[in-house]
Amino acid sequence: MVEKTALNKNMLDGSIPQRMTGGSRFLRACLRQPVDRTPVWFLRQAGRYMPEYQAVRKSHSLLAICKSPALASEVTITAAEKLDVDAAIIFADLLLPLEPMGLDFEFLAGEGPVVHKPIRSHADVAALRTDRTAELGYVAEAIRRVVHHFGDRMGMIGFCGAPFTLASYMIEGCGSRHYIETKRLMYSDPAAWHALMQTLATVLSGFAAQQVAAGADVIQIFDSWAGALSVTDYRQFVLPVTRLLVKNIQAHGVPVIYFGVDTAALLPAMRETGADVIGLDWRIPLDAGRRAVGEACAVQGNLDPIALFAPEALLRARVEEVLRQAGGIPGHIFNVGHGIVPETPVENVQRVVRWVREISAEMPMQTDSAQAGRRV
Ligand code: CP3
Repeated sequence: MVEKTALNKNMLDGSIPQRMTGGSRFLRACLRQPVDRTPVWFLRQAGRYMPEYQAVRKSHSLLAICKSPALASEVTITAAEKLDVDAAIIFADLLLPLEPMGLDFEFLAGEGPVVHKPIRSHADVAALRTDRTAELGYVAEAIRRVVHHFGDRMGMIGFCGAPFTLASYMIEGCGSRHYIETKRLMYSDPAAWHALMQTLATVLSGFAAQQVAAGADVIQIFDSWAGALSVTDYRQFVLPVTRLLVKNIQAHGVPVIYFGVDTAALLPAMRETGADVIGLDWRIPLDAGRRAVGEACAVQGNLDPIALFAPEALLRARVEEVLRQAGGIPGHIFNVGHGIVPETPVENVQRVVRWVREISAEMPMQTDSAQAGRRV
């Protein structure tokens, strides 16, 4: 195993080191340090579009894979190696913390997650457990194995759901279109809502801390459904607790990537969480997204994942466009704007990795980040 010395933050400065590993390249970009070429990874890079994952999935349920450090680490490693990306995201699921909090759920084929007894009242919130987070230790153990395998070669991304997005599953009991029950609780019983947010912040902070202790270089917080909120509701009901979660995670010495979908209007408020990197979806041009979050923040994104189904020339043009909009300014991680979907041709994902590498290596990078910031 290679020691993770290159990730030591003392080594991060304005100059571009001669030799960079995937891990140091990825971490430097999170911290807006210049890199030799743009780091790249993909949301949902280990999922159902990959034959290797499907083969494992044939004989194991999704939860069984998540709960087995041997299987979860194998799936994570196989996908990251096959794609030759700069970072691996641990194979797990957003909903895993629900179980130790006392909410049983299952994944129904073709329907997604279903929580058996969703939360509807302050009493339901009060009954949630915060003292069993250690039961999620299987995720940390899987991270340990991936870190042992890759060392410095890849960045290691741990993750958790954001309080709002997790609460929406706990309250609706499944995916939702209008979030009626979630917003009903939020509007009509703010005390119950805030208690739920605090409870989630406690559990998620502990869960993220386990992942960092196991070797995660960065934690990504998925607020996938935050785009359902108005700016006013986001600020009033979600921003304070999300800021607390970000701060708690950063206290362990790692950067935080905060990601949501359909968030163009929310970006300035999302930035106020203090996250180091904001994930952008594809609906906003990358340069506009960057202006919205401001210069003191890196961005991740933002190819339309469905562009991965396009003919080669168009796909390449879209990759070039994202890189051009990133403009060689330190603090960009190439990614899709939302998760890779089933049926995506794996070879197109591999092509994108090669193109990002070739094109960005040819683009001049600003080495003075203060200057670069002024250009944004
Ligand atoms: O690279 C990876 O794929 C990492 C593993 C990963 C999974 N879930 C495994 C999974 C990650 C990062 C997640 C996050 C997750 N889980 C999110 C946020 C991500 C996003 O895209 O915004 C959400 C909302 C969930 C909850 C969830 N899990 C849903 C809604 C579903 C069903 C619908 C779907 O997207 O497939 C799942 C199931 C799930 N989680 C699958 C995988 C690979 C597919 C089902 C299977 O293999 O049986």
